Amino acid sequence: MKEKLKVAVLASGRGSNFKALAEACAGEGYPGDIAILIVDNPDAGALQVASEMGIDSVVFDCGPKKGSMTLESSERMVEICNEKGVGLVCLAGFMRIVKGRLMDDYVGRMINIHPALLPNFKGLNAQKQALDYGVKYSGCTVHFVDKGIDTGPIILQKIVSVEQGDTEETLSARILVEEHKTYPEAVRLMAEGRVRIDGRRVVIKGHD
Ligand code: GRF
Repeated sequence: MKEKLKVAVLASGRGSNFKALAEACAGEGYPGDIAILIVDNPDAGALQVASEMGIDSVVFDCGPKKGSMTLESSERMVEICNEKGVGLVCLAGFMRIVKGRLMDDYVGRMINIHPALLPNFKGLNAQKQALDYGVKYSGCTVHFVDKGIDTGPIILQKIVSVEQGDTEETLSARILVEEHKTYPEAVRLMAEGRVRIDGRRVVIKGHD
């Protein structure tokens, strides 16, 4: 049997996408395996999920600057990923902009999920931005991580409709249902070696 792709998940909060990925990886025949959960916040709900599922986790001090990470923490993350044989880094609600060695070493092997249809509504509070703008459709995007904020080539997108009377909470919940399906699907495609970046485009073998 082909060896599974080892995945590191980086999270800061609740961890529902981490859970969706971990559950997919636990499924029979799934080609990915979670090697480690890395969080920057000791109170992250994701830690609880990891302990319940018997997945290794580590809390990192990424420095005091909100939204940023120290170069030292980036370096140490790469060391841990290398020790664990990680081939794919998945950001799942990781509230820091990746830079330094992690960015350099994992370029093309690091992906993120964003709760909007990029390139619209990048950055924080994407669901609120979509509601405030008045779009009729939003959704989620899985994309490669590059040095910008939510700017890397797009792997998958799923659309949800925005209903009249939606609040940030109701829209977020509708999008989240799709996130939990889309992220494991993207990781599967990566693990099966079917994803190729061609400039700004992502070409997926055998995917219609
Ligand atoms: C998700 O909406 C994800 O798209 C965004 O941050 C949120 C994380 O939620 N990047 P969770 O921690 O996975 O539940």
